[in-house]
Amino acid sequence: MNQNKGFYITTPIYYVNDIPHIGHAYTTVAADILARYMRLKGRKVFFLTGTDEHGQKVEKAALQRGKNPKEHADIMVKNFKTLWKALNISNDAFIRTTDETHKKVVQEILQRLYDKGEIVKRKYSGMYCTPCERFWTEKDLIEGKCPDCGRDVEFIEEENYFFLMSKYQNALIEHIEKNPFYILPESRRNEVLGFLKNKPLGDLCISRPRHRLEWGIILPFDENYTTYVWFDALVNYYSALKYLAPQDTEWWPPDHHLIGKDILTTHAVYWSTMLMALGLPLPRNIFAHGWWTVEGKKMSKSLGNVVNPWEVIKKYGVDAFRYFLFREVSFGLDGDFSEEALVRRINNDLANDLGNLLNRFLAMNEKYMKEKIKIHLEETEFSKEIINLIQEIDSETLWNEFKFNIILEKIWQAISSTNNYIAKTEPWKVAKESPERLSLILFNIWNAIRIITVLIYPFMPETAEKIWKALGLTGYSIDYRMLNWETEIKEALTEKIEQLFPRIELKKEEQTKANTKEEVKLEELISIEDFMKIKLKVGKVLQAERVKGSKKLIKLIVDIGEERQIVAGIGEQYSPEELIGRSIVVLSNLKPAKLMGVESQGMLLAATGEDGKISILTIDREVNPGAGIK
Ligand code: MSP
Repeated sequence: MNQNKGFYITTPIYYVNDIPHIGHAYTTVAADILARYMRLKGRKVFFLTGTDEHGQKVEKAALQRGKNPKEHADIMVKNFKTLWKALNISNDAFIRTTDETHKKVVQEILQRLYDKGEIVKRKYSGMYCTPCERFWTEKDLIEGKCPDCGRDVEFIEEENYFFLMSKYQNALIEHIEKNPFYILPESRRNEVLGFLKNKPLGDLCISRPRHRLEWGIILPFDENYTTYVWFDALVNYYSALKYLAPQDTEWWPPDHHLIGKDILTTHAVYWSTMLMALGLPLPRNIFAHGWWTVEGKKMSKSLGNVVNPWEVIKKYGVDAFRYFLFREVSFGLDGDFSEEALVRRINNDLANDLGNLLNRFLAMNEKYMKEKIKIHLEETEFSKEIINLIQEIDSETLWNEFKFNIILEKIWQAISSTNNYIAKTEPWKVAKESPERLSLILFNIWNAIRIITVLIYPFMPETAEKIWKALGLTGYSIDYRMLNWETEIKEALTEKIEQLFPRIELKKEEQTKANTKEEVKLEELISIEDFMKIKLKVGKVLQAERVKGSKKLIKLIVDIGEERQIVAGIGEQYSPEELIGRSIVVLSNLKPAKLMGVESQGMLLAATGEDGKISILTIDREVNPGAGIK
């Protein structure tokens, strides 16, 4: 292998037609975990994520908001970028398919393939599904509808450009068979092989006439057509290296394309054959993970059960969320999200096992050793047990095959072993008998926690940093050298810290105060006509930021069928980030007013609790922005 080959990992680039949800967070955190682990091991890493901004879906979403597609994309991209920051995603670059260089590379590739005769113009007719932006044959349809989304299709006849994908069918089968690691998990690999072996592969229509789709990259050899959004999007993995990656390192081929199972065909078949036609080496691995359902149901806007990562991290913390996603289900299978399951994991694994281990140790070390750690190098049964576990966990195969839940299970075995070691050795008794033995025991516990911290760092970077500090290790970096039981550290001073993960009680729905009748004087009552003067609307928060110089005021851009700027005094209870994407209630026919010099064109509704804290009214199901409230 080329010594200068860096580790290159990608996520899908996300459509900017909607705000990010748990599914987007899932792929991105998974890539982050592996990127962090590889950096820890001393590899040069290029971790790429970004947004997919062309195509009909985005054009339509922009139109609905009365924006041009680029303006719309500029707003939506911020939602992804701020969420990645909040989730501690360590991406090295963020690509947008509207970047000029990306567009140029797509055109160069199209031209190259066209010149080689890999792209040809053909008359084509077929059944077209507009939402999916795909042609289907009659045979593909299920009861006359799109087999993917179940919606109506329309018959379209037109001339288009085709990438001659079919001729690579056998070469692709051979590649997948020769490289068991190419598509993972194995069940997905079998699925792709089954499909390739049983059906002739068609050619891929890579253009759309401009009158049907204007929002895309124009074909370099025919300006009457734009590029099919998937052809444009897949090229991002290649184009990014031309202008976003450090040029002193060789990155191609990618080590992992991380994707969800729904976009396996586009990657395993379209992308692989595109690369074959270009004569470029194929990626080492395409890994397709499963889907999250929510309390047993498919996540969907119409059910109103889409999990917003902002809400989860606000309530439970970033690391609890990151941990839960990868401990709860095996990466590759489908998983079910529920707050109850998340709280169980927090209380059992994080508060009890990990949190208590650290706190017990810190308390004992303070009491018996005045927080000092003396290094001992003798081998014990316990050190051997931990060393064995580290070897199992630090295995290339487990990490490269994304066996995150197994890795976490094994790390938790090490945590249990350390907890058991405390129970067995009873340091509080040893304290009275042998100070030297006590110092050894406490060193062993400290040393085990030190290694455990390195191992949990890719999953929970913030928690790892906190523990590192508590262990007195701020002067040292968290890296692979710290995975050895033997250590070059000469001494350390521990430091007590707050509970890492306070236990969470799941509250029952608070009893509503029934029967609290309020006397209302007749003259204070209003008529229905009075009420009808008030126009309340559902608003979706598109942007939020603090008003400079004010603790309380937040400036919101809200979609209520049209965009409105609203200034609200909710800054003490809410951060701007957690407001983005929420559906709120807006009084839309209030006279505009200025607050600290900033115009507010309406008011959001909120309740003030007895403690003076403000809670904003939200809509508990997905309802279109602008819907009236009565
Ligand atoms: N733009 C394309 C990808 C182009 S890559 C060259 C796209 N974007 S997407 O925004 O619709 O979806 C991105 C990812 O989110 C996919 O990997 C998809 O699997 C994932 N998920 C969407 N819903 C999901 C769940 N409910 N659960 C887990 N992941 C899900 O497709």
